[in-house]
Amino acid sequence: MKNIPFFEYPKLWNDYKYEYSSIIDKVASSGGFILQKELSNFEIDLAQFTGANYSVGVGNATDAMEIFLEAIGLKKGDEIIISSHTMLATASAIKVAGGTPVPVDIGDDNLICPKSIEEAITPNTVGIMPTQLNGRVCDMDKIKKISQKNSLFIVEDAAQALGARFKGQHAGTFGLASCISFFPAKVLGCFGDAGAVLVNDKNLYHKIFQIHDHGRDLDGEVKRWGRNSRLDNIQAAILSHKLKTYNKVVERRRAIAQMYQDLLKDLEEIQLPPYPNKNSDHFDVYQNYEITADKRDELKNYLNEKNIGTLIQWGGKGIHHFQNLGFNQVLPNTDKFFKRCIMLPMNLFVSNDDIDYICKSIKEFYRK
Ligand SMILES: Cc1ncc(COP(=O)(O)O)c(C=O)c1O
Repeated sequence: MKNIPFFEYPKLWNDYKYEYSSIIDKVASSGGFILQKELSNFEIDLAQFTGANYSVGVGNATDAMEIFLEAIGLKKGDEIIISSHTMLATASAIKVAGGTPVPVDIGDDNLICPKSIEEAITPNTVGIMPTQLNGRVCDMDKIKKISQKNSLFIVEDAAQALGARFKGQHAGTFGLASCISFFPAKVLGCFGDAGAVLVNDKNLYHKIFQIHDHGRDLDGEVKRWGRNSRLDNIQAAILSHKLKTYNKVVERRRAIAQMYQDLLKDLEEIQLPPYPNKNSDHFDVYQNYEITADKRDELKNYLNEKNIGTLIQWGGKGIHHFQNLGFNQVLPNTDKFFKRCIMLPMNLFVSNDDIDYICKSIKEFYRK
């Protein structure tokens, strides 16, 4: 029987160890560990890749969000509307930065629902932070309209969406600032925690740069209070190397998504993410392949017996389900979603044969 884990972390290193060892050796033996040219080169490459004016490498995407919210000047009591279907980090960054996260329901696309955003606006609302989830950008035309009508800023949680586009525009470039995550399992992942802020405005860029490096600006002069959240130079060198082949990696993920679609589209019991359609407004990078399914838990067990790993995102909880954090809401679409969602293997280690086997096993389960 085949064995297809959901994700194989050791392979990230083992399959390419000679390539990466030589990069690490080169940077480490130069003694350039912190804030050196590998990092500034990567920041330039990343900004160019996405079309943002600037990027700042930071410790992780959660720090990125905390830092840009501090730079924007978030105040106690300021409310920011988020999707309940996001990582806890989106909400906790707002809380840590002094604001109040307001989770709302998802729409038919399982991303933040524009109508729910409008209904959640209060006199304290200052911004909207959509999560560009699973490598897909929300309908930003609708979200921009709401933000303009109500004088709200947009910042993006684009942790999962590097390279994803809406009407040709890259995730992370629609608002004041955004975060990208380089967690190892991300489409562009490194060997530890790392992240970046994308930002267009020069003044805001300087504030963000200062906050991430003890309040110091590019010239080393201390301009404000800050912290230390810098992207390591070794990780930056690895990320630069991987960014060169990023488009190829995305093409493979899109090909896997296409195979899942072709093989599973006739099953009424499951709903699939949209096709990787070249003519659509969306260019998706498929950070995850998340489906919804009848008898989800039985399906998960069945696939497990067939040695196929699956994952239920965020441990099966939306933000509004965390009652210990003070949330107490009913969000019907999100509630229903979390009873049905499950992610299938989506990474460079799965072969076409593996996808065949996974899809055959899913069909077997529903035809039993
Ligand atoms: C949607 C989303 N937001 C934020 C984060 C946090 O990223 P990091 O682990 O780099 O802090 C993640 C990471 O998984 C994520 O998926």
